[in-house]
Amino acid sequence: MTELTLVKGSITEQDVDAVVNAANSSLLGGGGVDGAIHRQGGPEILAACRDLRAAHYGKGLPTGEAVATTAGRLPARWVIHTVGPVWSVSEDRSRLLASCHREALRVAGELGARTVAFPAISTGVYRWPLEDAARIATETVRATPTSVEEVRFVLFDDRAYEVFAARIG
Ligand code: APR
Repeated sequence: MTELTLVKGSITEQDVDAVVNAANSSLLGGGGVDGAIHRQGGPEILAACRDLRAAHYGKGLPTGEAVATTAGRLPARWVIHTVGPVWSVSEDRSRLLASCHREALRVAGELGARTVAFPAISTGVYRWPLEDAARIATETVRATPTSVEEVRFVLFDDRAYEVFAARIG
């Protein structure tokens, strides 16, 4: 049974087997979580992302999919990059946000990761409302069979923490 836990802080400081990156399709870095992971993890991560672009992901990582690289200098062993959907009023992209969590857990299982830290994917630059993101994230993790023993949601501010805490209790 996978334990869901909550932490307020930076995902770059989590001593877990794998941290999930809220990346973009280019896999070449950005701001927020992506910026922090590349900044703290160092150039090895970007080099591994470039290799992925040159190999399987010539057109970039599609939204909802996940792929792992080294975590460089981070405490974690791996970074699992996933691309969240951008919030849309006119189109329901919930299944893509659910897919990010399901695919990240699938990749984590393939790696043999036992502990995985997730940020609140899509709730920053991609503007997904926190409450709905927390619902999708926690429901998807709970519904996904996985060998991962701990899923740790890492929230960066009090409001996000409270919203996720309401879902995890
Ligand atoms: N640790 C944990 N959470 C963080 C951190 C951090 N160091 N920095 C930001 N966050 C939080 C934000 O407050 C937000 O709640 O992570 C959540 C996701 O925000 P973003 O990082 O903006 O990710 P997202 O909304 O998925 O947008 C992805 O932003 O950084 C670019 O390259 C990235 O284009 C991609 C887009």
